[in-house]
Amino acid sequence: MSTEKRKTEHIRICLEHDVEFRKTNGFENYQFTHNALPELNWEDIDISTEFLGREFRSPFFIEAVTGGTKTAEKINRNLAKAAEDLGIGMGVGSQRAMIEDPHLTSTYTVKETSPSVFLVGNIGASHIMEFTVEKIMDAVEKIKADALAIHINPAQEVSQEGGFRNWNGVLAQIKTVCRSLDIPVIVKEVGNGISAEVAKKLASAGAAAIDVAGAGGTNWVKVDSIMGKTPFQNFYEWGIPTAESLEECHRAVKIPIIASGGIRNGIEAAKAISMGASLAGLALPLLKPATESADAVKKVLEQLILELKTTMLLTSSGSLKELSGKAVKI
Ligand SMILES: Cc1cc2nc3c(=O)[nH]c(=O)nc-3n(C[C@H](O)[C@H](O)[C@H](O)COP(=O)(O)O)c2cc1C
Repeated sequence: MSTEKRKTEHIRICLEHDVEFRKTNGFENYQFTHNALPELNWEDIDISTEFLGREFRSPFFIEAVTGGTKTAEKINRNLAKAAEDLGIGMGVGSQRAMIEDPHLTSTYTVKETSPSVFLVGNIGASHIMEFTVEKIMDAVEKIKADALAIHINPAQEVSQEGGFRNWNGVLAQIKTVCRSLDIPVIVKEVGNGISAEVAKKLASAGAAAIDVAGAGGTNWVKVDSIMGKTPFQNFYEWGIPTAESLEECHRAVKIPIIASGGIRNGIEAAKAISMGASLAGLALPLLKPATESADAVKKVLEQLILELKTTMLLTSSGSLKELSGKAVKI
């Protein structure tokens, strides 16, 4: 199947099917203590933060979704406009399609319409094994990315028809890409989580940040099994729940961590920040809005921002730093 067709099918399946895990992201195992006397003015609550040297107006991140098709172009532009207006960052989906067919580059080039957005390029583990470092650098430069995300997705790949199965040497190649690029490299999963052991390897390979993309949200084994009618149903619940993955990685490494995978409200985002994440990322809840307009995307994110701020008032946290450590395991 061509990359373009696969991308179109991914979007269609994510819009039309139940593609989430049955198991939860694990944040329900953490709770804040209600503060009935916050002694804090709503107007003074500061949710701004810094990530990889850039100021974000709130600790949210629009996760990598797509690229390579006409619909993808519209989705990326709407996501970028929303991200720019809200002062947050976004990722484009895998740039494989534009490396294979340079005519598809415009489906990723959101800086033409949203020049100040913090933009993260995207490439898969299988692609860094396939393409030269020069090709990857070129793809990143063409979209003026501020950082590159490499996705490591063995569960997705093995459950995909014709998926990538030889994972020997991937870490060494991640190291080479980190060394060769003059922008930071974020290494991310796509929905099965990252363990402490893997986080340590990635940090020593030169990753500037990790996006745990844990289990509990979008489920790629499920999406690709639906698409290819492959027999991987017994792996539908495979993976480390997001909260668990975040806790492990935060204990294991010092580099910034994005928490994503099933984050669906501002309380979960607040818990993630409290547990050590620099940003909380979302993909699936923004997909349908992004097919409509930037305002529709903003509406979803503004609700999460409101809920984050509410959580901060109710825990008497004037800044994200003050929120730190307040979500406790129950
Ligand atoms: C439609 C769709 C396409 C995606 N494509 C990519 C991709 O190309 N590269 C990538 O690294 N992650 C991709 N992801 C994974 C997300 O970036 C994210 O890690 C994951 O979906 C977990 O977040 P969620 O539960 O909020 O969706 C995609 C997610 C969705 C929903």
